[in-house]
Amino acid sequence: MMEMRIRALQWPQDREAVLSFQREIYETNFAGFVLTPEFLREYSSLLRRAVGDRHEGLFVLDDGETVRGFLWVAITSTLVDPWCGYIKNIYVAPTHRRQGWGRRLLERAEGWLSERGVSCVELDCTVGNEAALALYESAGYSTCRYRMSKRCDAKGR
Ligand SMILES: CC(C)(COP(=O)(O)OP(=O)(O)OC[C@H]1O[C@@H](n2cnc3c(N)ncnc32)[C@H](O)[C@@H]1OP(=O)(O)O)[C@@H](O)C(=O)NCCC(=O)NCCS
Repeated sequence: MMEMRIRALQWPQDREAVLSFQREIYETNFAGFVLTPEFLREYSSLLRRAVGDRHEGLFVLDDGETVRGFLWVAITSTLVDPWCGYIKNIYVAPTHRRQGWGRRLLERAEGWLSERGVSCVELDCTVGNEAALALYESAGYSTCRYRMSKRCDAKGR
């Protein structure tokens, strides 16, 4: 039996697998959003730029044959905190959920950040994403800010 492991993302070998996860991630977390080829091109170019950037950590969950998950963590800088961790993307393939891989990916992100002197990690989570919320809460995350939204009349662009 092949051994599952979390390893650094390899470019370009892992590109297609990681892109294939984005439809579910974006279409379930952003109501009404429809993923387009342009979106995937832009995402791919962001990924490409992040590979090799010391502020970005890119990992995949690999079963020895197929990529089954993805993690993107970064060190960000804001006026409030110039050295802060941020989980940009975390994904486990449906066939491999509820086996602890999401938690292990999260731990990998936290380990990667702590090795770089980061003492705080933040992430955004969609209100209705019960699996992700439960994962984060079970790993010790708590809500520190709300992002609120409202539809408004777009009269021009
Ligand atoms: C969120 C996600 C990464 C969780 O991955 P996972 O590998 O299934 O998570 P784990 O098996 O490590 O679960 C750890 C804990 O999280 C909670 N949890 C995970 N999925 C859950 C679910 N569907 N319902 C309730 N609790 C859940 C449980 O407390 C679980 O511990 P337990 O299994 O011992 O009860 C996965 O569902 C996913 O990839 N979703 C689609 C992508 C996405 O929305 N990403 C998050 C963007 S913010």
